[in-house]
Amino acid sequence: MEILNKESMTDVTDDFDSEALQKFVSGRPFIKDVRIFRKIDSTNNYAKYLAKQKNATDVLILSDRQTLGRGRASKTWISPPGKGLWFSILLRPDKNLEKLPLLSLGAGLAVAKAIENVLNLNPKLKWPNDVLLSGRKVCGVLLESEFSFEKLNYLIIGIGINVNQDSDDFENNLKDLAGSLKMVVKRSVDRLELLTQVLQQLEIVYHQFLHSQFDSICSEWKKRVCFKENVVVSIRTNEGIITGAFEDIDAYGRLILRLGKSESKLIQSGTIINWQL
Ligand code: BTN
Repeated sequence: MEILNKESMTDVTDDFDSEALQKFVSGRPFIKDVRIFRKIDSTNNYAKYLAKQKNATDVLILSDRQTLGRGRASKTWISPPGKGLWFSILLRPDKNLEKLPLLSLGAGLAVAKAIENVLNLNPKLKWPNDVLLSGRKVCGVLLESEFSFEKLNYLIIGIGINVNQDSDDFENNLKDLAGSLKMVVKRSVDRLELLTQVLQQLEIVYHQFLHSQFDSICSEWKKRVCFKENVVVSIRTNEGIITGAFEDIDAYGRLILRLGKSESKLIQSGTIINWQL
């Protein structure tokens, strides 16, 4: 897929301290290269383009603005300049590939922990990877991968965090659903500080993933889940809407729902549309 408008790929130097970010990353093995743009269609698209280069891996792609930001379930992800963190990481893990969906839960977990550390808040996680504050979504994760037969070609973890939007910045249909960190702490939040914290937390989760420490990821995730055990949730899936009681998540990141006394169902992908508080 050729998606790049090369003219839009200018470095962000005025409103985002790219030097400080390069410096932070250079001291850590998790990310080997950083690409920062003022404007791009989608950092996930750019990561896909980069993935065609055989040796490109462990690359962080960040843009101040996305013109075609993509969300899960083919939704648009609105990514205005100066207001958020829109970034993707290109990775090529060689282990535990059958458990990649758990990494998408881990990415949401990493963002939640970063928000806790930087802002002293208690974000909640909505399966699979939404981060909520005061019941509103402040972060979403789009994990994309490509396999040739059993071999992974690439993995892209795309993360969007609403940092400094005001309520009026959200379109009417999102006003009750989406929020930003600024709306909660009532002041602007330093995007670079948050990003470096997210990267540190992601590094931990990725290390746990590669070393098969799935329980650590699951238990940390469950501590923050937005609904309690046995709460009835409804999920939109490819098979239609499924309603059941939340039981657990498994080491594959799947949701375990109890449908009847002795019947449980594993849900691999979908969107939770309703749950009891
Ligand atoms: C969701 O629907 O919850 C996932 C949203 C993911 C948005 C991020 S922003 C950076 C990266 N580039 C994209 O086009 N999407 C992801």
